[in-house]
Amino acid sequence: MIKKAVIPAAGLGTRFLPATKAQPKEMLPIIDTPTIQYVVQECVDSGIEDILIISGKGKRSIEDHFDRNIELESRIQEKEDEAIYNQLRHIENMANIHFIRQKELNGLGDAIYHARFHCGNEPFAVLLGDTIIDSVIPVTQQLIDSYEQYQQTVIAVETVPWEKVSRYGIVGGTKLSDKILQLTELIEKPDRDKAPSNLAIAGRYILTPEIFPALEKTQRGKGNEIQLTDALRLMMKTESIVATQIEGKRYDIGNKLDFLKTTVEFALRRKEFSKPFEQFLRETIKRLDEQVK
Ligand code: G1P
Repeated sequence: MIKKAVIPAAGLGTRFLPATKAQPKEMLPIIDTPTIQYVVQECVDSGIEDILIISGKGKRSIEDHFDRNIELESRIQEKEDEAIYNQLRHIENMANIHFIRQKELNGLGDAIYHARFHCGNEPFAVLLGDTIIDSVIPVTQQLIDSYEQYQQTVIAVETVPWEKVSRYGIVGGTKLSDKILQLTELIEKPDRDKAPSNLAIAGRYILTPEIFPALEKTQRGKGNEIQLTDALRLMMKTESIVATQIEGKRYDIGNKLDFLKTTVEFALRRKEFSKPFEQFLRETIKRLDEQVK
């Protein structure tokens, strides 16, 4: 049974400057909801309510977001806006959220190493705080299902275009079933000609406690950082790892174009915006087309 989740959210967000100069990228909202709230909701929807967020400098607003704000609540209550009031109460009560600060930014592997005392001897889920995955079955639940079947470390993967393999951790292995791969190779951001496949690590994992001694031995890798992918490769010498091809659509919020696409797509799906927003988009495109002619 997986009872704990870790959400690394300490990164600087350099791909989203200047917006992230003084605010965490994980708090950038898709319409009205910060990215990290979608990620916490995925944990909750997967049956996990004990969440450790790895935060760092300039990330205080994440803590505030999941805390209670009594002054704001009473103001909203006076206005008798029940829907918003209920949303505020929901956010505070979503899960038991703990925080630990990563004092130096030494990479994703180092961030996960900060969870060793919190997770102890139990397997745990990892969800990257800047990635939303929209799916019928929450992706973390899909990984938990694989973990229950194989009792091994599970990594979420998805097919990416070959020209993008150097942006991701890439895996290689042999098929155990339609969606499951027994891994033999793991490599962080390889050049295209060194990639064993175009199956990319998709920001969700179930890790066993064996990852911690592996992280201790992991040397700095890509970007001079301690990479989780490198620790997993080291661990694979003694422990088996499977990859699950996820069913869902991944949105990388840390990247400006994907952020825009996500906002448009989510807005088109929201009942109160879908019609007027679609009309606005059509009219805008038509007007811009006419200007070009
Ligand atoms: C991290 C991981 C990488 C993974 C990616 C998914 O990289 O190190 O293996 O494919 O997330 O989003 P980052 O994007 O943080 O550089």
